[in-house]
Amino acid sequence: MVTTWKKKAKKGKLPSKRAAAATTANKARYVSSKMGKTRALEAKASLRGYVPATKWLNAAVLQEMLSEHRMVYVKPNAGMCGDGVIRVEKALPENGASLRYTFQSGVRKKSFATFEGMYTALRKVIGKRRYLVQKGIQLLKYKGNRFDLRVMVQMTPAAKWETTGVIGRVAHPSKIVTNYHDGGKLKSVDTLLRRYMTANDRKLYVKRLEQLGRKAAKAVEARYKGVKEIGVDIAVDYEMKPWILEVNTSPDPYIFRKLKDKRVYAKIKRYAKAYGRL
Ligand SMILES: Nc1ncnc2c1ncn2[C@@H]1O[C@H](COP(=O)(O)OP(=O)(O)O)[C@@H](O)[C@H]1O
Ligand SMILES: [Mg+2]
Repeated sequence: MVTTWKKKAKKGKLPSKRAAAATTANKARYVSSKMGKTRALEAKASLRGYVPATKWLNAAVLQEMLSEHRMVYVKPNAGMCGDGVIRVEKALPENGASLRYTFQSGVRKKSFATFEGMYTALRKVIGKRRYLVQKGIQLLKYKGNRFDLRVMVQMTPAAKWETTGVIGRVAHPSKIVTNYHDGGKLKSVDTLLRRYMTANDRKLYVKRLEQLGRKAAKAVEARYKGVKEIGVDIAVDYEMKPWILEVNTSPDPYIFRKLKDKRVYAKIKRYAKAYGRL
């Protein structure tokens, strides 16, 4: 079922046939441009602080952002499932490394002495696709592997935005993305944040994420009328600050079947059916 979803998603065949058959008024809108959705979030003053600096990729921009942030993510504007996502790092000269520039795509890591050497190799990986570059966030870890969180926000049958689920995704040990469709493992947020927060703080944190999700949905809807569901990818840094990495407009609902609390997926499914997605 999950593989089928990924295939459909890649072919741009989302939402489902049933959704496609639904009336235009009822049809959930799909938006592919990461940059467009990022700008939609930044248009709301209250969300601006949660969005890592994001720019269109070119050599000058990458060089500048590497000097400022040391670690950045370079990703396709219209990608999904972690495809084509690259992590680029610049080591400090004090570290004594002669190969100061490194990038990793998939499980392959390559190092270079100069920015120019690195950028030439990077462009070969990128090809003709349109890419953006984003400040990298140091993700928290679970048993040594990075994780981030997925917040599902849906339009209720009463036409209100509601956060219906939050789940964590742990990266495959040798990958730089947490995507479930790229080897990631699903875990409850409570399990993942246990090392970092007390039980009470975890509860409050989830409430905060739910609110952030609703705000993100309103911001995206303000620019893209007809969006009925979003899946927000949220990174948490070591100061426990949440960062919105991206917003998906046709998020995989099935990942929530992994949660012990079966009511979560039941509600997600019910709402999705109401707007013709499932
Ligand atoms: N700025 C970033 N800092 C840290 N990790 C990131 C960043 N951007 C992306 N990632 C990692 O890569 C994954 C995939 O990136 P994302 O922007 O969600 O693209 P996709 O559409 O392919 O899911 C994220 O879930 C996260 O694990
Ligand atoms: Mg994502």
